[in-house]
Amino acid sequence: MMSASAKTFENVKTLILSAHKNTTSRDKVNFYNSWADNYDQDVALLDYRAPSLAANIISCHFTGDREAAVVLDVACGTGLVAKQLKQFGFGHFVGIDGSEAMLKLARDSRLYQDLKQSLLGEGTLPVQCDSFDVVVIVGALSDGQVPVAVIRELCKSTKPGGYVCMTTRSNHDNLEYKSALELELKQMEEEGLWSCVQATDVEDWERAVSEQEDGYISGSVYLYKKLQL
Ligand SMILES: C[S@@+](CC[C@H](N)C(=O)[O-])C[C@H]1O[C@@H](n2cnc3c(N)ncnc32)[C@H](O)[C@@H]1O
Repeated sequence: MMSASAKTFENVKTLILSAHKNTTSRDKVNFYNSWADNYDQDVALLDYRAPSLAANIISCHFTGDREAAVVLDVACGTGLVAKQLKQFGFGHFVGIDGSEAMLKLARDSRLYQDLKQSLLGEGTLPVQCDSFDVVVIVGALSDGQVPVAVIRELCKSTKPGGYVCMTTRSNHDNLEYKSALELELKQMEEEGLWSCVQATDVEDWERAVSEQEDGYISGSVYLYKKLQL
């Protein structure tokens, strides 16, 4: 097996393209089980900035007590989002992910008070309603990963007045998913469940890995505030 330090962007690109045949969430989670040990180094080669972009936007709008706030990090992976939020003063994290190997690394980071293994999209989120000050999902809203139907669950688990932060990619193979996601976000706003605080398109989201694209692909960050009923 190639050592992490010898890896190049081309190696990581090949690895990620090999996962495109994984069509179900379960396949994708198995892929992450095998990728976990190299994930942090490999996404650095991709210039993956989504965790810091999401953390920045949350930090710009959150006015409460950060040390006391409880953050639910959905599809937490190895813990890159909690690591960024900690730098902004947040101190209490609960993580959920489907991959046991990613969760092991999140546990080793010692950033989380609680970690739960759950395949998102199958049943309800394994957390209580109205209980988190911030709910965040980064890098997992795309085809074959977390279904759009889970967005309502994220809103349910948030305290009234709390925030939900989500990211998605805007490149060609995610456009259909992104449209469905934005439709659901708007529908939930029309139902009076939450209001949009910020939706930002970012051009240099991460390095492109597909054959049809080069340079950087774009992406989006959304921040919603759950309404007080
Ligand atoms: C690209 S990683 C993002 C991890 C972390 N949020 C970050 O930004 O580094 C996607 C994560 O979502 C998890 N995941 C994908 N689909 C899932 C599903 N249906 N249920 C649970 N976890 C899922 C994977 O196991 C993986 O840890």
